[in-house]
Amino acid sequence: MSTTFQLDTSTSRANPTPAPMKRLTVPKIRQRKSDGSTDLPLVMLTAYTARQAQLLDAHCDLLLVGDSLGQVIYGLPSTIPVTLRMMADHAAAVVRGSYHAVVVVDMPFGSYEQSPQQAFESASFLLKESGAAAVKLEGGEVMAETVAFLNQRGIPVMGHVGLTPQAVNVLGGYAARGRSGTEAEKIVSDAKALDDAGAFAIVVEGVVEPIAIDATNSVACPTIGIGASSKCDGQVLVTEDMLGMFERVPRFVKKYENIAQLIEQTVATYASEVRERTFPGAEQTYQPK
Ligand code: KIV
Repeated sequence: MSTTFQLDTSTSRANPTPAPMKRLTVPKIRQRKSDGSTDLPLVMLTAYTARQAQLLDAHCDLLLVGDSLGQVIYGLPSTIPVTLRMMADHAAAVVRGSYHAVVVVDMPFGSYEQSPQQAFESASFLLKESGAAAVKLEGGEVMAETVAFLNQRGIPVMGHVGLTPQAVNVLGGYAARGRSGTEAEKIVSDAKALDDAGAFAIVVEGVVEPIAIDATNSVACPTIGIGASSKCDGQVLVTEDMLGMFERVPRFVKKYENIAQLIEQTVATYASEVRERTFPGAEQTYQPK
């Protein structure tokens, strides 16, 4: 049974300002890059919950239910242990909380690499369970056949090249990629292979800037940079990183806020009011009529 349904706005405290908009589509995102350039860069952020999606939706073209939820939500050491079930449930919440952005869901490690058929089974499960519009998978040339297979069967695919976190055990860490000539050429040829296979957009992560620019100029579909270049066709960040939820973030993250500090200060105020018996006050307490 599909878990996708719109919030009941008359009863839900989670949706104070319902402003339904017509949802963007994958072809509309793809068309934002015409004649090799994108006039208005694409805005993408990660989202994992319904309320987060509601707050981000109007500002974003795409919401990515990233497998980074492994670390951000579940406290896991990497994205490797993330499961299809986790991705499907969080993606369903994000779809319920959004009206406007295209929702893209990450395919977790182990759910697609074996064969195009395995990828189709996993991707169709994710889309059926969540109502998301597209999937994202990591890898370049080696995944091109799978990207074409999915695309031809009705599943739009966003690619992901450069630093691919699911390959952390092969790469040995999360350092920027493309510092050697061969690695640089490989990243650009990976992007081209995904583009030829029909990817509607490609995330370019953690690469030195000239490669991001080269990849962007070499493919017809939009590139979405993270730790890449402002010249990519769009940008993505992990929302909790840019809000300042964590002390340690990659160098490429700009912290727009210090939400962790705000939460700590607010909770400290609550704790002292409870201990001083000043909360709950008269306004929060029921009295007999
Ligand atoms: O999982 C994720 O959040 C991602 C982005 C960082 C691109 O793949």
